[in-house]
Amino acid sequence: MTNSTITRSVLITGCSSGIGYCVAHGLQKLGYQVFATARKPDDVARLQQEGLESLVLDLNDPTSITATVQKILERTSGKLYALFNNGAHGQPGAVEDLTQAALRHQFEVNVFGTHELTRQIIPIMRKQGEGRIIQNSSMLGLVVLPYRGAYNASKFALEALTDTLRLELANTNIFVSAIEPGPVISRFRMNSYKMFEQYVDAQNSIHQATYNKMHTTLLQEGPVMPFTLPPEAVLKRVIHALEAKHPQPHYYVTLPTYVLVTLKRFLPHRIMDWVLRKVI
Ligand SMILES: NC(=O)c1ccc[n+]([C@@H]2O[C@H](COP(=O)([O-])OP(=O)(O)OC[C@H]3O[C@@H](n4cnc5c(N)ncnc54)[C@H](OP(=O)(O)O)[C@@H]3O)[C@@H](O)[C@H]2O)c1
Repeated sequence: MTNSTITRSVLITGCSSGIGYCVAHGLQKLGYQVFATARKPDDVARLQQEGLESLVLDLNDPTSITATVQKILERTSGKLYALFNNGAHGQPGAVEDLTQAALRHQFEVNVFGTHELTRQIIPIMRKQGEGRIIQNSSMLGLVVLPYRGAYNASKFALEALTDTLRLELANTNIFVSAIEPGPVISRFRMNSYKMFEQYVDAQNSIHQATYNKMHTTLLQEGPVMPFTLPPEAVLKRVIHALEAKHPQPHYYVTLPTYVLVTLKRFLPHRIMDWVLRKVI
């Protein structure tokens, strides 16, 4: 456990389901003061009923970010030990079918909202002289897969900001880590399906046949990829990133992350492309 003299408070985004939900409950059980935020008021009410301190935070709404940060600081006397940037969505679709609106929405949530929240928290951590910023990135922030261009791009952007931030905070006591999950059980695919329906004109696309197959996968309950892990696998890395004296810059989670990153390092580009085209 950290030697921190401040309350071990953690702000988490996207706690309505999946990894955020698991990490919020897991950290609360360990004694952290958890601020489990969610986009929708109904989810906030549900989380409160479950005993979590929950507030609305929509990463797509700058006023919601600022208002919630203020409310949390009022409850913690202006301090916050850690931020777990977890909330995000996946926008499926071939690159040529991605409208500017779809790409913009993907970046508003996964990159710009997450960045703005982080920017508002850093001065607090600087003032208190310590802090932990943990980004829930993805193996798709390190390696791309087809039909996930918007998501790939958003997570690559998050990786770049995260690595840069870590260099810039190197002489402080604020540690920045990225977690790189491969397939994890959550509502991610189901939520991605909604974004697909909202933004992709599948009927008029050259990729219609692939989309038909994708539909089935996105709507399938339970794991669709081998080596899928439960969200507790991410919780374990979050705890390390919060409590280790020297947290790791990157935490790989699931075998597919290790395998794809290693293959990318050693295989020639054309062979790597062949491998990646097999995984859709
Ligand atoms: N599951 C995987 O295989 C996997 C793999 C690699 C990385 N990840 C990353 O893990 C993180 C958590 O995803 P998950 O797998 O737990 O999926 P999930 O069950 O879909 O959870 C995503 C969370 O993000 C929230 N969110 C979406 N848009 C938001 C917004 N505008 N403002 C605030 N929150 C928003 C969702 O809220 P709503 O319920 O309101 O939509 C939900 O709480 C994401 O960053 C994802 O990229 C997941």
